[in-house]
Amino acid sequence: MPWAWTRSQDSGTKAMTAAVMGIDVGTGGTRALILDAGGQILASATEDHQPFASPCVGWAEQHPDDWWRAAQAAIRKALRNSRLRADEVSCVGFSGQMHGAVMLDGHGKVVRPALIWCDVRTQKQCDDLTKLLGRDRLIALTANPALTNFTLTKFLWTRDHEPENWRRVCRVMLPKDYVRFKLTGHAATDVADASGTLLLDVSRRTWSAEVLAAAGIDPSILPELFESPAVCGQVDSRGAEASGLAEGTPVVAGAGDQAAGAVGMGIVTPGAVSATIGTSGVVFASTDRPVTDPQGRLHTFCHAIPDRWHVMGVTQAAGLSLRWLRDTFFKESTKGSAEIYHLMTEEAGRAPAGSEQLLWAPYLMGERTPHLDPDVRGALVGLTASHTRAHVIRAVLEGVAFSLKDTFRLLEAMGIPIERVRLGGGGARSVLWRRIQSEVYGREVETVAAEEGAAYGAAILAGVGAGLWPSVDAACQSVVRVSETVTPDPNNVALMSAQYERYRRIYPALKSIYSS
Ligand code: XUL
Repeated sequence: MPWAWTRSQDSGTKAMTAAVMGIDVGTGGTRALILDAGGQILASATEDHQPFASPCVGWAEQHPDDWWRAAQAAIRKALRNSRLRADEVSCVGFSGQMHGAVMLDGHGKVVRPALIWCDVRTQKQCDDLTKLLGRDRLIALTANPALTNFTLTKFLWTRDHEPENWRRVCRVMLPKDYVRFKLTGHAATDVADASGTLLLDVSRRTWSAEVLAAAGIDPSILPELFESPAVCGQVDSRGAEASGLAEGTPVVAGAGDQAAGAVGMGIVTPGAVSATIGTSGVVFASTDRPVTDPQGRLHTFCHAIPDRWHVMGVTQAAGLSLRWLRDTFFKESTKGSAEIYHLMTEEAGRAPAGSEQLLWAPYLMGERTPHLDPDVRGALVGLTASHTRAHVIRAVLEGVAFSLKDTFRLLEAMGIPIERVRLGGGGARSVLWRRIQSEVYGREVETVAAEEGAAYGAAILAGVGAGLWPSVDAACQSVVRVSETVTPDPNNVALMSAQYERYRRIYPALKSIYSS
């Protein structure tokens, strides 16, 4: 770990400075957030990205330089809003959308737009890799099967379809790591985010030489690997000039958005589970060993804490389902997007629990957990002439929760303890969606006071790197507070459970229509 602790050792005053920054490079935008040692948010700012381009069905691309543009703007705004001097930020942490394939040439320039997490064009590369290594061996090596979302398959697609681009690739990295690279000049990543590449030996927390050799990927193009709270570099003069951060500010490795978001919600020990509805939806359980689903329906990844892992199930289009509904049917509204969501969920509240048997299958981008099927399509099932717009919106909110419940069932079947459930993301901000989730999961659910998502977790990791807290566990105990607990209505739990059984019968029917 070449850079560890250098700045706080060099400068006693820095070690005393109690502000840290978390930067989350999401899909919709980049957020920068500044925390003090009490976990209080001093300032935050978000800058939107260009929406992802989808030139063909199932493709999703973003340009890494757009993330860097947004990161510079968000960092500057957050610093300005905090009124801190740049050198009062003692460490920076990162989180970001996982799996995106960033490819750079020998001059550090982006070779082509990144194929991002929800791009599912790589089924052939998944099949080739599975044939080459064998499915069981692949799961034994990486803890996961080959899925179209995973980064390696995106590199292989580029090599197969754009050999002239692939020949120019000298470095690869994940989305947040590109922003770090621009700030520090150093190519680094963390074991939590690297778990989603299919190149990591997740049990041993190192790159897998066997997968690299089988896939024909030169290990020298990979970034250096670190544990999430480890200091792995410092802002260089170019990064400082572009962002407004002080030259020499240490940065920690950080984590993919799911692991960082889990840290921000205190999901760090076995028994703690979160359900986060952002663009995607994730049910995340912390574990003290790598537990794998032999069928590969759940991802088994390193947690952002040394010696800890997690399993998670992913709904591809969770918040995206509601956004699609808004953009497709509510676009004429002159109101801002937050207000439209508010009006939509208010309207949904006028329909009864269970939406009078109207069902939404949220497979707008294929589905990961539990179906692992990039070809399946979304469906609104059970419409009658008496259903209203309110029923449709409510059915979408319920359908997303049913999809997350699929993961809860898998966790139970695998014997993973679920002692407490915390909600995060946009799905935790709506009173109705919180209640729906509690009734669909049939469990008490909590929300946390600083529901700031992955940027908050990234800042906590920076705080641990800067020595504000001795460990991630200690940091979470000190700063994460529960703000609300929702207890489900038993009548609605029974009703939702019956509706969920109907929901489960949609996928086999759709599969028979859309399987390629
Ligand atoms: C996780 C996943 C998404 C992205 C985008 O596996 O694909 O959560 O990280 O947020």
